Amino acid sequence: MCGIIGILGNSAVAGNLLDSLKRLEYRGYDSAGIATLENGVLTRVRAEGKLRNLELRLADHPLLGKIGIGHTRWATHGRPTEANAHPHATSRVAVVHNGIIENFRELREALAAENIKFSTQTDTEVVALLIDLALSRGLSPIEAVRETLPLLKGAFALAFIFADEENLLIGARAGAPLAVGHGNGENYLGSDALALAPFTNRISYLEDGDWVVITRESVTVYNIENHTVVRPINIVAQGTLVADKGNFSHFMAKEIHEQPEVVGRTIAHYVNMANGTVSLPEDIQIDFSSIDRLVISACGTAFYAGTIAKYWFEQLAGLPVEIDVASEFRYREPPLTGRGLALFISQSGETADTLASLRYTNAGGWPSLAVVNVPTSTIARESTMVAPTLAGPEIGVASTKAFTCQLAVLLALAIHAGRARGMLSAFAEQELVTALLSIPALMSKVLAHDVEIEQLARDLAKAKDVLYLGRGLSFPLALEGALKLKELSYIHAEGYAAGELKHGPIALIDETMPVIVLAPKDGVFEKTVSNLQEVAARGGNIILIGSATAATEAGLERETAIVMPDVHHIVSPLLYALPVQLLSYHTARVMGKDVDQPRNLAKSVTVE
Ligand code: F6R
Repeated sequence: MCGIIGILGNSAVAGNLLDSLKRLEYRGYDSAGIATLENGVLTRVRAEGKLRNLELRLADHPLLGKIGIGHTRWATHGRPTEANAHPHATSRVAVVHNGIIENFRELREALAAENIKFSTQTDTEVVALLIDLALSRGLSPIEAVRETLPLLKGAFALAFIFADEENLLIGARAGAPLAVGHGNGENYLGSDALALAPFTNRISYLEDGDWVVITRESVTVYNIENHTVVRPINIVAQGTLVADKGNFSHFMAKEIHEQPEVVGRTIAHYVNMANGTVSLPEDIQIDFSSIDRLVISACGTAFYAGTIAKYWFEQLAGLPVEIDVASEFRYREPPLTGRGLALFISQSGETADTLASLRYTNAGGWPSLAVVNVPTSTIARESTMVAPTLAGPEIGVASTKAFTCQLAVLLALAIHAGRARGMLSAFAEQELVTALLSIPALMSKVLAHDVEIEQLARDLAKAKDVLYLGRGLSFPLALEGALKLKELSYIHAEGYAAGELKHGPIALIDETMPVIVLAPKDGVFEKTVSNLQEVAARGGNIILIGSATAATEAGLERETAIVMPDVHHIVSPLLYALPVQLLSYHTARVMGKDVDQPRNLAKSVTVE
């Protein structure tokens, strides 16, 4: 979850380390730090809180070394204090770490038995102390790392620098991602290509168990058996590495407003515009007619995209779908019998639970298809096939454009499956593809309601609890709406299937409780309106998101409705996602919350 960076440069590296940490802040932002080597001595500056605090500290205490490591933290072990911030260091070694050392208690006890003292509550300090112990016994830095790595259990990425070693940076990867950047007379290590983008686009990705010895002139990768291995250098397209807010005050706002463009681009990748059919990229070779079971696994917002896809695959293709949150799937150990396909959905492509689920189905011999946004990610690399979302870098911690792009890809796949399984006629396919193609323009219309939605958000910001309701395809979107609102504004929110209301949650309704109802004109619209009336009858404070006719049929006044353009019901989640996102965005903004970096969260969840 944390972001790490290492630079072996030719001039002072602290400024560049800080720039990279800004690009990595999406991975964690509760404390940060940098260490460099100055005249052979390890010197570090760390600060609690956002990177800005580290920047201010560095202004007072500049670091001058030409080799250094940096870290932005999402706390796992120990509170986000300065003492617990990385790099962790002794006089001989400094280390930054992303992930969890699962056996750190055992290791701590072993070190304590050697009379070694601790100054933090972190698991990372154990690594620094183990290396230090090995160095104190006369091992070289390379030997010390080689001897220490097998002692560590868990999922982690590490970067080390050493006292008196002006030309040595060592990295290790076990579970958490780590990339090597190849420069000219300079080399780099980082959690991802985005962090390294200012310096190089020549990137190699370490595989699990790899560790790497880097000098200014060389990069030597060793595998888990300590044999030298070659990891190819990829040229990463610059376009995928741009991260800037443009004219928007938050990344989230920019990313919401980018949706017509990126969803359009994604749809174009999967459909033949000329004849209105789905046309999958050549490297996605799936014969859906020979499959009798689809298993989907993902986390958070990506899980809700998968839940919407379950409706699509079942209704359009008659394909039975099981879906689990990845943290359950991986331990539920479902039997992988029958002719199945495993589908994984992830923006980052690094989510630990989703990756573990992929590895489970890979081990079971099932083919896997990953819908991912980061094409160089671990999940993309380990899946049999990749269906990319072309959302571009998503920096706001709350997923927005990646979600709608995931929906676009999943619907294209479901339509393709429907044709392959004889459930959809050529005419029905064309109708659905036409509906999908209408989405980007309709999205632009919905985004024009931004100001109205902001007004509604001002009221929502006063609520203590909020309920989202929907049926059918809108039910997972209700869950997504509640997730977005709570993660950004910290208002308690729940999503419910509208028909489930009367089985308990209706007891919560009174005039203080906003109830947001997603009611596109679909096969269950009348039933949703009945549920809405039940809420109204109990004094509930309704915000309807529906078409103009929906508002009239529900007998609601205009100011309590977000009026949506008419849209084919099958594609409605792509469109209805937008007011849901905007409501959360504006509510959090009005409340003065940190929209792009909500408390306790991180963008890329590489711990389980
Ligand atoms: C919520 C959100 C998270 C992610 C989840 C999965 O707005 O962004 O719930 O959707 O952590 O992340 P990825 O898609 O990277 O696997």
